[in-house]
Amino acid sequence: MRVLVLNGPNLNLLGSREPEIYGHETLADIEEGMRGHAEGLDIEIEFVQSNHEGGLIDAIHDHRDWDGIILNPAGYSHTSIALADAIAGASAPVVEVHLSNVHKREAFRQHSYVSAVAWGQVVGFGYRGYHAALDLLHSRYHAEQPA
Ligand code: DQA
Repeated sequence: MRVLVLNGPNLNLLGSREPEIYGHETLADIEEGMRGHAEGLDIEIEFVQSNHEGGLIDAIHDHRDWDGIILNPAGYSHTSIALADAIAGASAPVVEVHLSNVHKREAFRQHSYVSAVAWGQVVGFGYRGYHAALDLLHSRYHAEQPA
């Protein structure tokens, strides 16, 4: 099973960027924790972060037939039809993750173009949301693959 973890703009600054909202873990901390979790589940995992809409779209294209994509589209969640189109064209199920509970924040964060084309969303659990997303993709994959 292969899973891509894709993080959008400004998430390279996690740890120092508004830690009261996004937590103290750096992106490298999160990726290291996920690598261990993936190893335990026998999942091949890859990480991509881009501050550019086109970079995120290219990464979705390149992994479109993988067994899952965990995506935090960050600010592009609320603006990008192109990103939603890329997901709609991919066979990989996408779990949209937000570290913060976007539903408790500004009104403009309460709509995501990605949600309509994602398999589901995990929102507001900090870095733990990425781990939950990995578990969810793992159960989906194994439910779909009869022993
Ligand atoms: C975010 C929420 C977005 O609204 C914001 O633009 C981000 C991070 C989150 O993980 O909580 O950059 O996706």
